[in-house]
Amino acid sequence: MPDRDEILEAVMRHGRNIALPVSLALVVFSSRRKLINGLQTLIAKTRKEKNRAALMDNYGPVKTEVLEHNLPVKGTLPAELNGAYMRNGSNPYYDPYCSYHWFEGSGMVHAVRIKDGTATYCNRYVETSKLKQEKKAGKPVFAAFADQEGRRGVIIAMLELLKIKTGAVNVKEGTGTANTSLVYHAGRLLALHEGDLPYQLRMVCNGALETVQRLTLGKDWGETNFNAHPKFDEPTGQLHILGYNITKPEVKLGTMDPAGQLEHTIKVDLPWPSMMHDKAITSKYKIILHFPLCFDPQAMVKQDTLPIVWVKERPARIGLVPKQAKSMDEIKWFEMPR
Ligand SMILES: [Fe+2]
Repeated sequence: MPDRDEILEAVMRHGRNIALPVSLALVVFSSRRKLINGLQTLIAKTRKEKNRAALMDNYGPVKTEVLEHNLPVKGTLPAELNGAYMRNGSNPYYDPYCSYHWFEGSGMVHAVRIKDGTATYCNRYVETSKLKQEKKAGKPVFAAFADQEGRRGVIIAMLELLKIKTGAVNVKEGTGTANTSLVYHAGRLLALHEGDLPYQLRMVCNGALETVQRLTLGKDWGETNFNAHPKFDEPTGQLHILGYNITKPEVKLGTMDPAGQLEHTIKVDLPWPSMMHDKAITSKYKIILHFPLCFDPQAMVKQDTLPIVWVKERPARIGLVPKQAKSMDEIKWFEMPR
């Protein structure tokens, strides 16, 4: 194997011949994200009807982050009242280039902290990997979900894949927006989005919110997504979680103990993959809601829609999984009448 000096000598010898192609390659390499983003935007903008309803009027994003103490209070706050009321929602940091779907705005948490008879308001973006990359670039760097409609959407999706394969965007830390819900369990406040792991937040003494970390659960859960509606089991203090991928025919169920440690997981094979937004629990079972809302790139082209469609030919299925099930054989499946 030639050493570094040999390589450098060869470069020097053939410098004149290779200088131009190497320079060109470097220019293309360093600006590939810019090029691909530009192309994606151009293609997206060819669509005449841009859906931006979720950016308007009362739905419009809040563009400032504030921390406001001593809010006006009508009447009196009981001195014993000590806690916080919070909500999470989709709030794009940058205006999207073309269409917008409210599934995909950055998560922003709003909180009112009540303590010692006073109230404090704070709103903060959840500092996800995706948002950090956008802030660094000064603009959106991932293709909008809402632009991935029809034939042009296929091309936009392919260019997005190219960005991922060439490392122009970082997907190793997930691409979720943490914008869907909040859950408080085992002393941890989590902002959730079904396409990623949770982001742990905290409220500091003065009522301000901070992002702590993207929470991982150990090797048994790995990088499996963590859906936005885990179920708290009041009598046991456990949290029941679910992870799915719309392109894989399987779902993973997990149980976190009252201390927040993952104590039980089971992977369940499915006859076809589907979008699994929610789940349920009873005193004995975890309940899988396997409905035919499916990823279908063919429908995307033929029906000029987003690639997620209701497949009428498939049944809606409900699976009862004993809470401590060790095998899929213990699951009872029910098909809903059509
Ligand atoms: Fe929901």
